[in-house]
Amino acid sequence: MRFSMASSSVGVHIQELAEGTYVSAHRHLAGAHVITVSGEGYELLFMPGEEKTRRRYPIKPFAVVAPRTNEFHQHFNTASGTYRYLAIRGQTNPLRFGSGGGYNPTWSAQNKDPSAVVYQINYDQEDPSIREEYYRELEKKGITSRLPPISQGRS
Ligand SMILES: [Fe+2]
Repeated sequence: MRFSMASSSVGVHIQELAEGTYVSAHRHLAGAHVITVSGEGYELLFMPGEEKTRRRYPIKPFAVVAPRTNEFHQHFNTASGTYRYLAIRGQTNPLRFGSGGGYNPTWSAQNKDPSAVVYQINYDQEDPSIREEYYRELEKKGITSRLPPISQGRS
């Protein structure tokens, strides 16, 4: 859910990941601060082309993730129940400053142009070891994945 605070220029949204799920990797400009409200999991961070040397951090309430410009980031829920976070982004309130005067909900999820400022890697295009690592984490905790295995061919 996206919302505005006191007509400010600050973009804010809150998101909740279902148990046994994670978000696809995406990148954008620096400035976003993602604050964990509830739940537990981990975060992966990597610059383009550095998936194999990605950094991983445990996530629990009050953890803050602030990705750098162009740094891919990915939130993983590994606990029972939902994982909720609040994201605050300086001066990018799409509800007030969206291109063409309107908010485009697909902008932050575009996956066609990897050279664009904002880009998302779809599940079937991500490094397969990312999902394999997630399945191992869920298995350790006895959580059932809600994301079925997918073909990850890179054609
Ligand atoms: Fe983000």
